[in-house]
Amino acid sequence: MNNNIKTALEVETIENLEALYDRAFMIVKEAVEAGSKNFGLATGGTMLPLYDRIRNSKLDFTKCQSVNLDEYVGLSKTHPESYIAFMKQQLFHEKPFKKSNLPDGEAIDPSAEAARYEELLKQLTLDFQLLGVGENGHIGFNEPGTSFDSGTHIVKLSDSTRLANARFFPSLDEVPTEAITMGIASIMRAKQILLIAVGEKKRMALEALLKDEVTESIPVTILKNHPNVIVLTDLAI
Ligand code: GLP
Repeated sequence: MNNNIKTALEVETIENLEALYDRAFMIVKEAVEAGSKNFGLATGGTMLPLYDRIRNSKLDFTKCQSVNLDEYVGLSKTHPESYIAFMKQQLFHEKPFKKSNLPDGEAIDPSAEAARYEELLKQLTLDFQLLGVGENGHIGFNEPGTSFDSGTHIVKLSDSTRLANARFFPSLDEVPTEAITMGIASIMRAKQILLIAVGEKKRMALEALLKDEVTESIPVTILKNHPNVIVLTDLAI
């Protein structure tokens, strides 16, 4: 089934996940073919089937730059759950970009690193931003309550986010407590956004996006104020 819900956002509900990720791949492909050069990338389980399709495609990013949303603070770059390691394994090894940018989670001064990253994001307009969403409505690692005016900053991860991400680590204790994330304002400067929200655990966040008012207590709701967002979901709301 594929219905388009009528809201200001372009929402495509596709129950079949293979079809949903085929559609996500087409949206990325169209962006590349339309000349997008700077791609904001995301991590998380949601992105795996999309990166799989990109790896197995003929898409060429060697004239493009990538800019990732976020990185854990204090996790070694060689740790398999660091976002740099995730991106290398899932995408960059097979689909290199001219330059790939991620926040340096091992920086001695994380605040200076956040400022450096924000400066980079001001120099380079993101043509396309890929987004997942946290169960509590976070985007990047912008937890509920983050100012909509925020640029790249250090964030203390909420207990619920650490618990949700604990499935990727040997134990909860090993999940980092902080991250560097693009801010909400940084994300909103992207010209086009593709949000993918798949699975029952994302229902609350998606319902808030589609039905609630824009509120800092559910960061994803800010996307209603963006002029060019496609939401792909398997959930009927
Ligand atoms: C992490 C990432 C987010 C991602 C979220 C959801 O918190 N920082 O960018 O959207 O997880 O992850 P998943 O796709 O695994 O549900």
